[in-house]
This record gives sequence, structure tokens and C-alpha cells, in this order.
Amino acid sequence: MLPALAVPATDDLTSLRRQVDGWRAQGLTIGFVPTMGALHAGHVSLIETAMAQADRVIVSIFVNPMQFAAGEDLETYPRTLEADSLMLAAAGCHLLYAPPPETMYPQGFSSAVQVEGPATGLETEARPHFFEGVATVVLKLFNRVRPDIAVFGEKDYQQLLVIRRMVEDLDLPIRVVAGETLREPDGLAMSSRNAYLSAPERIKAGRLNVILRDLAHAIGDGEPVADALHHATEIAAHVFDDIDYLEVRDAETLYELGGGPLDGPARVLAAVRVGKTRLIDNMGAAPDR
Ligand code: PAJ
Repeated sequence: MLPALAVPATDDLTSLRRQVDGWRAQGLTIGFVPTMGALHAGHVSLIETAMAQADRVIVSIFVNPMQFAAGEDLETYPRTLEADSLMLAAAGCHLLYAPPPETMYPQGFSSAVQVEGPATGLETEARPHFFEGVATVVLKLFNRVRPDIAVFGEKDYQQLLVIRRMVEDLDLPIRVVAGETLREPDGLAMSSRNAYLSAPERIKAGRLNVILRDLAHAIGDGEPVADALHHATEIAAHVFDDIDYLEVRDAETLYELGGGPLDGPARVLAAVRVGKTRLIDNMGAAPDR
């Protein structure tokens, strides 16, 4: 049972379906924003995007155990349901769906969705089963909510492309909409995990977006990718405790690019460590012509 919350909410699949069926019977369209909670303005911007494109908006909060590896922050991931419900109410969300883990993964659960293509490399290097966990839970949530549109943030650019791929490959009748990354005043991408940063770590964390932005500008201006990447990596190595990856990839496929000047839309993507916190961010880059 959920506590009393500031927004209409359910943890029960039957009531979720009843509500969605009722809206559909009235000819209303359904927008969906899946989250793991600990909501911030970035999540709210996705809800606003959904509100602009659908008649009713459902937000899910589910800290998905399947996408956390052993030793990651599953137990300590911030859980702030009551504060979240206030943000959802302010954003005008029509229904919060917060399923209990045992109803998502009951005893005997044995299936997984494996996407290749855009799921190869980058996040997968450090977290080999991450996208399997994400794709599986998102497909389950899609099947439960049955939305017309679903909004995902560019903040998790690889995740966005993995979901797009899954939706296309598995013929899901859902339009995937991308939402821009919301940033703090110093450019740090908003993230529930920023709460883990100490004051000095927070200052370092603000350098990541600047390094990515400078890299995106350099290759946009025609500097060979290999040279610009070398320079950016040197700076990042100096600032951060570790670099999981710092790469320039094709913006659509995430294929690796050659080391020469850009000849089409690209994406610069990075994951770095500041103390115990892992930060990810990315930005678009296109040749200036
Ligand atoms: P979570 O990290 O809670 O993010 C939920 C959605 O918010 C994702 O689509 C993410 O890209 C987006 N988001 C996060 N930070 C953002 C920011 N600063 N600006 C704009 N959008 C932002 O991503 C997940 O949860 C999970 O993997 C999930 C898809 C829910 C599956 O469990």
C-alpha cells in the first residue's frame, strides 16, 4: 500500500489498467514518463513535454533492481516518494504508478530483453547487464501502462537510443519522444546521483559539461576527432578520479567514428568518476558548414 500522496497514485496493476481503459474509452491519449524517483527539474521537464503531447500523463517510480549490478547503489539509491509526489502534483501529472518490486519480478521471473546495436560499448563496458535491465523493465512498464507516447531524457542518450531500437524492433505502438537535458547553473546535468557529491566534488563535477562542450565545439569547427579527443581526455584525466569513457560517436547509431574531421552529426559522450560518484553526460556536435 502506498501512503497518502499529493497526486493520484497506485501501486496496483488492476487499478492502473482500469484508469487507463477509462481514459481510452473517452478517446484520450496517454503519455508516459518512466523514472526511478528522487525527482528533480529534469524529470519535471519530461513530464511537461508529455503533457504537451498527450491528454493524460502517467509517471512511474520504480527503482529497478535488474539494472543495478552487485556493488552498485541499489540499496542507497535515494527514495523520496512524498517529495516526489509534490513535484508530480505541481507538474500536473495525472497518475503516479509505483509498483512494488515483488510484483514486477515475482518468484520464477526468467525473461530478459537484449538489445544489441546502440547498447554495445560505452555504458555496457562498465555495466555489462545494464541495458538488459533497462530494456526489460521498460518493456514491462510499456505493457502495463500501454501509453501512446513515452518520454526519455537525452541525459541518458545511449538509453534513449536503446529504447528507440527496442520499440522499432519489437513493433511497439509507442512514439518515443526525447527531452533535452536540464542543467544546473554551472552546466552540471541534473541527476538524482548528484546528491552524493561533497562540496569539493560538486565543483569538479561541474567541469564535465564544459569539457564536453569544448570538445563538441572543437570537432564542430573541423578539428580532427582524434586530436580534439586527445586534448579533452588529458584535461578530464587531470580533473576526475577516473574516466570510464570519453568518446565521439555517430549521433544516430552510436557507431565509432574515424579520427578525422566530422562529416555528419555526432554525439560526445562521457562517464567519469568523482570520488565514489559516477557521472554521465553527453552533447550533440555537428560540422559547421
Ligand atoms: P531516471 O534516472 O530516474 O531517469 C528518468 C528519466 O529522466 C530518463 O529518461 C532520464 O534520461 C531523464 N533525466 C534524468 N536526468 C535528466 C536531466 N537532467 N534532464 C532531462 N531528463 C533527465 O533513466 C532511468 O531513470 C531508468 O533507467 C528508467 C528509464 C526509469 C528504467 O528503469
